[in-house]
Amino acid sequence: ELLNEIHGYEGDFTVPAEKLQAVTKHFITELDKGLSKKGGNIPMIPGWVMEFPTGKESGDYLAIDLGGTNLRVILIKLGGDRTFDSTQSKYKLPDEYRTTKNRDDLFNFIAKSLENFIAEQFPNGVSKPLPLGFTFSYPASQDKINEGILQRWTKGFDIPNVEGHDVVGLLQEKITENKIPVEVVALINDTTGTLVASLYTDSETKMGVIFGTGVNGAYYDVCSDIEKLQGRLPADITNDSPMAINCEYGSFDNEHVVLPRNRFDIQIDEESPRPGQQAFEKMSSGYYLGELLRLALLETYNKGFIFKGIKTTVPERKLIRKLSELIGIRSARIASCGVAAICQKRGYETGHIAADGSVYNRYPGFKEAAAEGLRAIYGWEKADPKTYPIQYVSAEDGSGAGAAIIAALTQKRLAEGK
Ligand code: BG6
Ligand code: GLC
Repeated sequence: ELLNEIHGYEGDFTVPAEKLQAVTKHFITELDKGLSKKGGNIPMIPGWVMEFPTGKESGDYLAIDLGGTNLRVILIKLGGDRTFDSTQSKYKLPDEYRTTKNRDDLFNFIAKSLENFIAEQFPNGVSKPLPLGFTFSYPASQDKINEGILQRWTKGFDIPNVEGHDVVGLLQEKITENKIPVEVVALINDTTGTLVASLYTDSETKMGVIFGTGVNGAYYDVCSDIEKLQGRLPADITNDSPMAINCEYGSFDNEHVVLPRNRFDIQIDEESPRPGQQAFEKMSSGYYLGELLRLALLETYNKGFIFKGIKTTVPERKLIRKLSELIGIRSARIASCGVAAICQKRGYETGHIAADGSVYNRYPGFKEAAAEGLRAIYGWEKADPKTYPIQYVSAEDGSGAGAAIIAALTQKRLAEGK
């Protein structure tokens, strides 16, 4: 009987190759809509990083990373020879701050963490303000590199009076109030950071992707192909200039046209603080995978199949393990549709996809399943990831090195009077 149950769940969580291909096809249409003047569900946010790193960028930079598992403050020394060193401290953001009613709690906490870090790293003080890249991993609109207007919170954050506001301004205000010698020079998404940091060391990089608390990707487009940018470009930027795009594709298919959602996905969405948003992310990212498993287990328990006594039996444990595998594999396959869609859209036939995040790095079997997902979409014959033309590779530290490189590129542009 338990075996029949397992088969049932296999049906609920298995996504065949044809479905992945259909999802990818629809994804491409939605990515294009996001770049149009009218816009669409996927924000496709220009990140104002308009050059590729040369690998020669150098200097000391600070970075703050907000939006993953930890708040991190990082000091990065770019070597100027495609290498970098970094020192970091992690600060546990109190859980209640994710949904605090007072935005000052969050921004004061970040400023105080920064203050502690600087006191540790620079005990003799600093002679001039240190440049900082702020990796803020939520959808934030940018008209220039040192601003970010939060469109909406994702990944369970829900703090009033931040949506619609410039988070660079909010952070700089607390930094100045606390007399911390730091200037926020760039706002960065973690995916853009991952893209740029990986490109600094590996010129085959085509995308930066995060499979973590959330799921998202960034790539370089060309200004002339970004309809909504027309008329908004600085005078020195030509139409054939590259532009890093933070896709924010966690919001793909919020209309529920193509994603194969099951009853657990529907329940997760309905019970989330933002029903109807982040449909793609809710099926594939770390913030939701544990809840998917819990709901599936609760169902088997209510049907009387598991946990009848305190002790679990071997078949029960096998079921739990199988469910965890199914949920992870589905996440990896679905998440790979975003990658394939960008590659197909840009015509990339080979290259490296720089990937980071706790799900990618720690969920057993995820890396293999993600590569296998790409194979299913493309129909590559041989099941050997080393032979795949498009390959996932472990990313460099996007929110540290990426933020530093982007801050360096920004300072260079400013120094050139741009
Ligand atoms: C880190 C990256 O390793 O992964 C960050 O450097 C990113 O840029 C983070 O935000 C995302 O992972 P998670 O699992 O912490 O959300
Ligand atoms: C969420 C955020 C996005 C981020 C991703 C991965 O989707 O909205 O900005 O890149 O999570 O951290």
